[in-house]
Amino acid sequence: MTTERIPREFIQQLLTRVDIVDFIDGRVPLRKKSSNNYFACCPFHTEKSASFSVSQNKQFYYCFGCGAHGNAIDFLMQYDKLSFPEAIESLAKLTGMIIPRERAASPKSNINPDLYELLSQVAKYYQIELRQSSLAVNYLKKRGLSGNIAKDFGIGYAPPGWDHVLQTIGKSATLKQQLFEAGMLIKKDDGGFYDRFRDRIMFPIQDRRGRTIGFGGRIIDKGEPKYLNSPETPIFQKGHELYGLYQALQAHRELQRVLIVEGYMDVIALFQMDISYAVATLGTATNAHHLQRLFKHTSEIVFCFDGDQAGRTAAWRALLVTLPIIRDDIQIRFMFLPDNEDPDSLIRKEGKTAFEQRIQNASTLSHFFFQHMGAQTDLSTTDGRARFVKLANEHLQELPPGIFQTMMLGELAKRARIDVAKLSTPKQAAKTSIKPKTARSPSSLRLAITLLVQEPSLANCITGPLPSLEIRGFDLFVRLIDIIKTHAITTTGSLLEHFRDTEEDKLLSKFAHLEHMIPNEGIILEFLGSIARLKKLANKQMIETMLSKAAQNGLTSDEKQYLHELIQEGQS
Ligand code: GTP
Ligand code: MN
Repeated sequence: MTTERIPREFIQQLLTRVDIVDFIDGRVPLRKKSSNNYFACCPFHTEKSASFSVSQNKQFYYCFGCGAHGNAIDFLMQYDKLSFPEAIESLAKLTGMIIPRERAASPKSNINPDLYELLSQVAKYYQIELRQSSLAVNYLKKRGLSGNIAKDFGIGYAPPGWDHVLQTIGKSATLKQQLFEAGMLIKKDDGGFYDRFRDRIMFPIQDRRGRTIGFGGRIIDKGEPKYLNSPETPIFQKGHELYGLYQALQAHRELQRVLIVEGYMDVIALFQMDISYAVATLGTATNAHHLQRLFKHTSEIVFCFDGDQAGRTAAWRALLVTLPIIRDDIQIRFMFLPDNEDPDSLIRKEGKTAFEQRIQNASTLSHFFFQHMGAQTDLSTTDGRARFVKLANEHLQELPPGIFQTMMLGELAKRARIDVAKLSTPKQAAKTSIKPKTARSPSSLRLAITLLVQEPSLANCITGPLPSLEIRGFDLFVRLIDIIKTHAITTTGSLLEHFRDTEEDKLLSKFAHLEHMIPNEGIILEFLGSIARLKKLANKQMIETMLSKAAQNGLTSDEKQYLHELIQEGQS
């Protein structure tokens, strides 16, 4: 039996059936220290004073002498020298539980499928509905989609009505709650739910491993909003995901280049026409996260924008995002489409070869940079040239040092007809960096994680959405909350089980026994306080990003409104 084949939920149930104190006490007699803590001489190393501690609350043991630690499964593995499956078997026997040998064989035990599993069911449901709706099928046909491409992208249809997903998938209160957490349901004032997506063509959004993490839904023909996306959820962070990346990586082991387009339909139309390396951001501008993710798979990115003024402005913003992360071994180019065309319409009109020719002809970053800078200043006057040099130089200082930066500075000097040595590096203070600040995890985050690991039920204190923060460790925090909520975890031992054989295991085990010195009655308040501080930090980070954007290329009225809200929020 491989570990893969033992359902996680079963292991979870197993751990809740055994009490680690009784269990260990049967082999190593324990002495009570306080209401929840027990001590003994460590069975795993020779010692005179008792440094082996077992916590009933946490369902976790830890030796202050040798560092041995874990839950009941770990104890069996260490003490009885069992393999992981053997330890499970042994515990199962002890509790009288039968190990479900195959995942498929246990669908109706009251196992909560996790959010991924749930969304995959929803996606399947929408696909079945699509086949039954001639209206939806005809719409896709009218737009030129083949049945195959619809299948490759898992396209479906959410029928009209308020409770299809609610009734079909949300069969229990737990499932309804999970559907809500996954963004598929909206809560009514009276506490009930209704379907978020109704009468829309549904595009499942998949992560890099092909798991459905959210949806985009397009209205059929006219209506508002044209596209509706899943909200942010524990498994879906809009600002990180790229639509179509999974399919592109399925089609190519290595991506020679990636084309970034605007919409779902663009990605799909290109794919259908055999350009299988396009991705789209999900209604947000391309950010450094997106680019860093893409550069793991390719060395060339081509941005595709509308040819109008709005398209050029968007392209310039994208360029500014790329500057700090450019390396000498990667290439970034910009392509502009003819008026009133998007990749979907254009490739259907002129075909693959002509479209790829356009990609070939896309502007280099250098070309677009100097063209855009030049258009803003009058190079025929000394004043104009001085301004040009100053502005361009400031931007070029964003580039990491390297051959590319040297070449760009050389080109700037040539165009402004000055000596390249005169382009001094501006003072650090003058730099308006738009690099996301991946600050060290602040103490509030470490505290929040520590408390959460030791007291997983704290996750239930978090209602509303979590802030999105660009700091190290924050992803882990979000994952912990997700795991705790998804699997209804109540003890440290069960929580850490999810991290068996992972990189995070060591770190989390350390947090598991860290003395935080906070008295029991203060824990919830401390936890909520640390979350509040993290929210403030996120707000501050976002304001900084918006302000530097404002300084560089202005804000749209929506963005101004958003900034205003952020500032107000920060003051409250
Ligand atoms: P089609 O009209 O179906 O061809 O879509 P499109 O991709 O050409 O649409 P458009 O250029 O209008 O929008 C591009 C992308 O912006 C879409 O794929 C969506 O991700 C997003 N988008 C468009 N309209 C809306 C909207 O009303 N709300 C939200 N949240 N996103 C939208
Ligand atoms: Mn379109």
